[in-house]
Amino acid sequence: MRMAMAYPPIYLRKLSDKEKLVKRMTMIRITETRIEKILNEWVGKNLIKGDGKGLNLTEYQKNIARDVLLRAFGLDRGGSGKYCIISCTRGGKTELVSVLGLLLALLRPATQIVIIAPIYRQAIEGIFERIDGYLWRNKKLWKAVRRIQRHNGRIELKNGSKILCLSATNPEGLLGYGADVLIVDEAGSIPRDIIKQRILRMVMTKKETKNLLFTIGTPHNRDSYLFDAWNGEDFTKYRIVWRDAVREGLMNEDEINFVRKQLSEDEFAVWYEAQWRDLSEDDFFDMARVREKCIIEKKSYDKESLSAFDEITLGCDIARYGTSKSAIAIVGKLGENFYLIDYRTVSKKGLSWILGWLESTAKRFRASKVVIDETGLGAGVCDVLKERLVGKDIEVIGFNFAKRKERFNLYDRLKYELEEGNLYLLKDEKLRQQFNAFKVKYRADGTKDVEKLRNIESDIIDGLALALHGFNSGKCSVAEFMLDLDVVLSMGA
Ligand SMILES: Nc1ncnc2c1ncn2[C@@H]1O[C@H](COP(=O)(O)OP(=O)(O)OP(=O)(O)O)[C@@H](O)[C@H]1O
Ligand SMILES: [Mg+2]
Repeated sequence: MRMAMAYPPIYLRKLSDKEKLVKRMTMIRITETRIEKILNEWVGKNLIKGDGKGLNLTEYQKNIARDVLLRAFGLDRGGSGKYCIISCTRGGKTELVSVLGLLLALLRPATQIVIIAPIYRQAIEGIFERIDGYLWRNKKLWKAVRRIQRHNGRIELKNGSKILCLSATNPEGLLGYGADVLIVDEAGSIPRDIIKQRILRMVMTKKETKNLLFTIGTPHNRDSYLFDAWNGEDFTKYRIVWRDAVREGLMNEDEINFVRKQLSEDEFAVWYEAQWRDLSEDDFFDMARVREKCIIEKKSYDKESLSAFDEITLGCDIARYGTSKSAIAIVGKLGENFYLIDYRTVSKKGLSWILGWLESTAKRFRASKVVIDETGLGAGVCDVLKERLVGKDIEVIGFNFAKRKERFNLYDRLKYELEEGNLYLLKDEKLRQQFNAFKVKYRADGTKDVEKLRNIESDIIDGLALALHGFNSGKCSVAEFMLDLDVVLSMGA
């Protein structure tokens, strides 16, 4: 007896667009020649950069991508599927990582790709937005998208592949994801324990042999998983140095000569030659003390509880680049003690917006002083705010981060209050993490300075230090007096 045909077989039906697409995507048979074509032609034609031009991978980006794709499609001879890439800064690491994630997602249906960066901003603005941009700038590629969720850095394709862009700052949020492809960008800036305990297990949980693991970064921290990977046996290793990037036109040599003069020999070796060196990376703040003092539960204060403080000041750090954030910290003084009442951050706002924000926050918290970073863009904000608040019982004080001595004293004051135990902070992981950005640096003459790591956000701490500085004004410390003297002397010269 013939079976009734409940549903026509696929070849007799007219395929829906979706089915056609799925079929096309799953049918692509990857060969060595195809991979060459993809890297040399397809990428340049189909991945359109923000400036409207096609992306041409550099030779070294292609070499790595080629090895990875050969491996991903079983066309290589063995290899562990683990890659360690150390590179100079601006060498095109994050670009490479984003493109690789996208290619693997498009070419291998149902692939789970997790890309991790040290902080949220790098994961979203650095990686998610790059991939998202390549997808929507090309109509054909956009059709392959099932859905995109910016808030959690998630991109799903119709072929079943997913790309997740996560940050390492929220370790709890890393649990529960499995990955076929795991990419860790700036792995030198993620604590070793977090990589080992929370991140690597994402690939460990999958049994297939085609898993891929990438650790990528600049070699600035030997106390890191990146360093272990580089020195271990398991990883295929690549090094990208400034000369490669100059040759490919990603950097120019004048720029390099300029920064070379600004950096110590070791710093240049790390950031441009991609050489492992120990940069002095002692924490500036006593991190155990910070942990101990982060105890205030966040709450909203009404008028009465705010008026219980002797004085309240606001510190504001103004974003210097398009990508960084502006932060306000609100600090109250009660007797000998200081309390971080609250903080606020925003990104990508114009200066007039920032002005309104500052003014309303100052009024809302009944601040008597506002201390503003008046370096660069901040100078304008500071001047205008001074005018606006004239006669309103709020004093506006500018602070210039470009003056080395003053800058050091500003952070040193914060360090002092913390270590004396006079400063109470919010119970807040993000805040606590930001203290890690500050390291001690010894100058050639043996004096101490504060250095900030570039990959950890620190805007709230800057706001906090500025707010504390507000309680200072009126008093003239020796250092300030000396500085004024410097200014007077140099003016006379
Ligand atoms: N193949 C390429 N063609 C054109 N531009 C590129 C290419 N690769 C990277 N770039 C651009 O060069 C700049 C630096 O690249 P990217 O951000 O990927 O470098 P990075 O090594 O991650 O740098 P960082 O140390 O800042 O993290 C970016 O503006 C990026 O868009
Ligand atoms: Mg990068």
